[in-house]
Amino acid sequence: MSNESEYKPGLEDVPAAKSAVSFLDGKKAVLEYRGIPVEVLARESSFEEVSWLLIKGSLPTQKELANFDRDLRQRRSIHFRLKDIIRCMPGDGHPMDALHASVAALGMFYPCHTVTDPVKNWDATMRLIAALPTVVAAFARTRRGEEILEPRADLDHAGNFYYLLFGKEPSPAIRKVLDACLILHAEHTMNASTFTARVTGSTLANPYQTMASAIGSLSGPLHGGANEEALRQFDEIGGPEKVKPWLDAKLAANPKYKVMGIGHRVYKVKDARATVLQEIAEHMFAESSRPKSYETALELEKLCATIYGPKGIYPNVDFFSGVVYSAIGIPTDVFTPIFAIARVAGWLAHWNEQLVGNRIFRPEQIFTGKNDQKYIPLEQRP
Ligand code: COA
Repeated sequence: MSNESEYKPGLEDVPAAKSAVSFLDGKKAVLEYRGIPVEVLARESSFEEVSWLLIKGSLPTQKELANFDRDLRQRRSIHFRLKDIIRCMPGDGHPMDALHASVAALGMFYPCHTVTDPVKNWDATMRLIAALPTVVAAFARTRRGEEILEPRADLDHAGNFYYLLFGKEPSPAIRKVLDACLILHAEHTMNASTFTARVTGSTLANPYQTMASAIGSLSGPLHGGANEEALRQFDEIGGPEKVKPWLDAKLAANPKYKVMGIGHRVYKVKDARATVLQEIAEHMFAESSRPKSYETALELEKLCATIYGPKGIYPNVDFFSGVVYSAIGIPTDVFTPIFAIARVAGWLAHWNEQLVGNRIFRPEQIFTGKNDQKYIPLEQRP
């Protein structure tokens, strides 16, 4: 029986698993995937290579990467019936809901009921990484009344996703930005959606259900959904000169008002990923004028540093990601699905890790209800 003093709301500081996938030092803004700093990977690597690194534990050889890349390209297409399911979804529904339902449905076309067969598990792992961009783009297009495009095997993961969304190839610069964004979002220790993946995985649910659970968890505005909210917030503010009156008004109405895209359970300094995304944004806007949303974000960051900095609340990954996605033409409600396209690599790494020596998650509770209550027949109740 747990006692009250052991209870940590939100499981703050409670280790939920042993993991070798990634390392985070929130005081020094260090994030490493399998020991390699995320900034280095964003600059030097590719999403395909990073997926292998996270799941397999070390960098692939040239041959391993070539085979993995080929196997991913072969698994990008989705069944025509899944396309029909996506076409039947309400066009005004949220793309994260579409993704959640589609990923669970994807598993019905490629059954993986028992998770004891390493060959099937690896096939599911590759299919999930490969097919998520197809699913996200399929819904994004059908709701605009456009045809679902067939994946292009001659493009890499990021380039193919851009093509599936827009029907044209990205410029090399945009492809690199998208690839770097996928790398930056691929993994982040024991966050809510990763924990969700591990909990669902611990029941030996199939990998598609496990990833669908994680997608549901990621969709919330306190987690992955914050990137959309952050951009909406910059638009609502309407310009750098309006930042102070906007925040003053919010805090006057609610002193506990939460600014979207700042704060983190673990980081007490600016998130390393936010720093890289800001560099990407600076680079992108060097040749064009800076969008108002970015100018607003910079001003809000400055103001928040004076108010919240002393409490260790600084921009997280979601503060600048929306500005970058929006600049390459991605619709606001597709930001979180892109997060999922990336994070599936981390979730799968944790799922594979969880299955080794698995034990089902079954924590305790502090019971706050009543005991020994009498059942009163309905007719005797007021
Ligand atoms: N804006 C203003 N104040 C914030 C804040 C924010 N975004 N995030 C945290 N705080 C303050 C809280 O009001 C609280 O203050 P108090 O101690 O005076 O009561 C304190 O910091 C702790 O906040 P709490 O919500 O308990 O922290 P948490 O670890 O449970 O939550 C987040 C972490 C990420 C959910 C939280 O920072 C948040 O809601 N951020 C905005 C959403 C977001 O950007 N999410 C993406 C995360 S990658």
